[in-house]
Amino acid sequence: MKKVLIADKADAICERILKERGLEPVVKTGMKPEELKACIAGFDAIIVRSATTLTKDLIEAAANLKAVARAGSGVDNIDVPACTEKKVVVMNTPFGNTVSTGEHAIAMMMALARHIPQANASTHAGKWEKKKFEGVELTGKTLGVVGCGNIGGVVVERALGLKMNVLVYTPNMTAERARKLGAQMAGLDELYQKSDFITYHVAMREATKGLLNKEAIAKMKKGVRLINCARGGIMVEADVKEALLSGQVAGLACDVFVKEPATEHIFFGMENVIATPHIAASTKDAQVTVARQAAEQIADYLLTGKRTHAVNGDKL
Ligand code: MLT
Repeated sequence: MKKVLIADKADAICERILKERGLEPVVKTGMKPEELKACIAGFDAIIVRSATTLTKDLIEAAANLKAVARAGSGVDNIDVPACTEKKVVVMNTPFGNTVSTGEHAIAMMMALARHIPQANASTHAGKWEKKKFEGVELTGKTLGVVGCGNIGGVVVERALGLKMNVLVYTPNMTAERARKLGAQMAGLDELYQKSDFITYHVAMREATKGLLNKEAIAKMKKGVRLINCARGGIMVEADVKEALLSGQVAGLACDVFVKEPATEHIFFGMENVIATPHIAASTKDAQVTVARQAAEQIADYLLTGKRTHAVNGDKL
């Protein structure tokens, strides 16, 4: 019987489906790299979320590995070239958590506009600081969406419903997609110059590393508010902090950090930063969907060879 390691916390449906399909799931979460290395050769497939990092070293030790499934979208915690070299297919579930992630970005934008976390903490502390928490309206304001794939698209549609003007930037964006979404296409500089709020929905790759940096911030409106529910590495955190201190950036809502788990950080304690612990996709709905999809994709591949959302499919 083929064995599948569920290496990160996933909804119970994942294990159930693997069993129903005649595979042997083994749930072992929170393993240190050495522990994982010691047992990885015993598995035909591995399912991860974001907690486990599958390095080249681990992939090389995985003598029987045929497939890796990422219950989520980002595959930056998996050494995909190392998998490709070993003919291991890597699949993700790119649509399973897009709505949850997009909704979190919208919630972060609203929280930024009305200082909701800060006002909540102050009110619980018995301070009644009514004057301190004057916010801004979203209606009529311009939202810049950098990266308009599945998640960016969800954000655009919701923001239009909030009566915002929406500018989108994505390399290779077609006029047809922008028209269908009802958004306006813009160059990145134009988006930076015109937006009151900017939200990032790009994948972490070489081209997006440090995209949100000093130079980008200098092109933005003074008092812009930023939302990052994508990846910490797309911003130069020290540059963003400097801009938050100077007032060039009025507020940051941030779900992701360069180093995670982030238990200490240069943003922590800043009044104009709202932080959440990489929970944009953490809804019951999304987690059931991605766990189910990852299990089905692994079962399909191991039992029939069918590949779904294989990120290295063209290279195997
Ligand atoms: C993703 O890449 O799917 C999201 O960031 C959520 C996650 O990492 O679990």
